[in-house]
Amino acid sequence: MSDIPKNLRALRNFLAISDFDAGTLNSLLDLCLKRKEEFRHGRLRPALQNKVLAMIFQKPSLRTRLGFETAMVQLGGHAINLEEHQIGIGQREHIGDITRVLASMCDGIMARVFAHQIIVELAAHSSKPVINGLSDWSHPCQALADLMTIRERFGQVAGRKLAYIGDGNNVARSLMHACVRSGLHFVIAAPQGYALDVGTIEAGLTEADRQGVTILQTEDPHEAAEHADVVYTDVWTSMGQEAESAAREHAFARFQVNAALMERARPTAIVMHCLPAHRNVEITDEVLDGPQSIVFEQAENRLHSQRTLLEVVMTHTAH
Ligand code: CP
Ligand code: NVA
Repeated sequence: MSDIPKNLRALRNFLAISDFDAGTLNSLLDLCLKRKEEFRHGRLRPALQNKVLAMIFQKPSLRTRLGFETAMVQLGGHAINLEEHQIGIGQREHIGDITRVLASMCDGIMARVFAHQIIVELAAHSSKPVINGLSDWSHPCQALADLMTIRERFGQVAGRKLAYIGDGNNVARSLMHACVRSGLHFVIAAPQGYALDVGTIEAGLTEADRQGVTILQTEDPHEAAEHADVVYTDVWTSMGQEAESAAREHAFARFQVNAALMERARPTAIVMHCLPAHRNVEITDEVLDGPQSIVFEQAENRLHSQRTLLEVVMTHTAH
């Protein structure tokens, strides 16, 4: 008999944090923490025996791929990496045809893509669960592990403040939605031209009002970091933006997470980064390797949260 809470049993796709209400997201986070604790005590259920996850990567990955593949093995199933240059979405074959074949042979699909629309189309054509392993728009699996890590560290997180210093990108967007649903105040400091889009902020504010928390956007990283409980950053140049790298390094020069910036945060503050990090660019070695950094616990939680997510979405899929 499965102990997956009722409100999670109908969960199929995991495309964006904004698709879920606070209750659902927090139930999922509760289960992630519970499963990690069980794992630590040597208790693993083979919940996905003989099930297969198809994985598509249009961009490189370490944590996402390792997390999903390891999780499938731990659950008694198997994951297949379908080298995107072999299947050629939209080039060798129409995405709808690819998806129908994947759904007929596999029990779930995880994809890391450039355009978010590809994830949306995969989900539209698939009779099996689809998980977004990062798109240009969002990175919900990252936000799940991030909130799990913050809860693990602080216990009660309601009313705490997370300051995101850097690009208003996929990671920032998912993190904002996850923070407000967990009762954290969210502040983002980004240079002009790199802020989160108005639509995202408006959607975030609607939920923030409901949860009684705030969202602020500023161009002053030190103001953002003031009294923060969590200081978070990501690369200034995301995958696919390499041609903009020089312009971005110039625009973000004031936005480095370093010792001076950390002086503004609470002494008990933790430092997070989704990784991979560009050392001494968006974050100094001193901070990344310092006592406040929990980036490797955060990375490890990609495994525990993704294993829980796979169990939730794939346990009841019919063959
Ligand atoms: N943070 C993250 O998604 O890492 P990878 O790109 O290595 O998967
Ligand atoms: N914003 C980064 C995150 C990498 C995990 C990117 O999209 O490249």
